[in-house]
Amino acid sequence: MSVDSSRKIDTAELDKIIESYGSKKSNLIAILQKVQEEYKYLPEEALIYIGTKIEGLSPATVYGVATFYAQFSLDPKGKYEIKVCDGTACHVRGSMPVLNAIKAHLKLKDGQMTTADGLFSLETVSCLGACGLAPVCVINGKVYPQMTSDAIKVILDTLIREGE
Ligand code: FES
Repeated sequence: MSVDSSRKIDTAELDKIIESYGSKKSNLIAILQKVQEEYKYLPEEALIYIGTKIEGLSPATVYGVATFYAQFSLDPKGKYEIKVCDGTACHVRGSMPVLNAIKAHLKLKDGQMTTADGLFSLETVSCLGACGLAPVCVINGKVYPQMTSDAIKVILDTLIREGE
């Protein structure tokens, strides 16, 4: 299901998800995975709500679990989701300069993964299985091989024009 990342949380929908798994502690990870699938990230209000609904858990515990696991994102994803591979082959062939070029071009501060206008979100991922094309970026599922700092800036500018 594709969802606008800015939509408000819907407690009836969260109740449905919680009921479908059962409101036990042991189902928390599965519930969070499903909520993230629906919203594309874990909105803070959803974590608080889940914390009030699952037996034996508090909102603080649910929040702690969500921040502990790398698979969960507490930031909304952008319209364009950029993944920069930082597996060994990509790292050796220059994925970090590409990553830094993206951060600089999109004016992302340290720790900020989504642009203020919601157009882009950025994450690093481990090997995408396309090492022969290193360094590799993926934007909304499309693979961009043998990336360079200059090439990624041209691609970003094109997406910015298209996204406006
Ligand atoms: S290390 Fe990047 S695709 Fe394998």
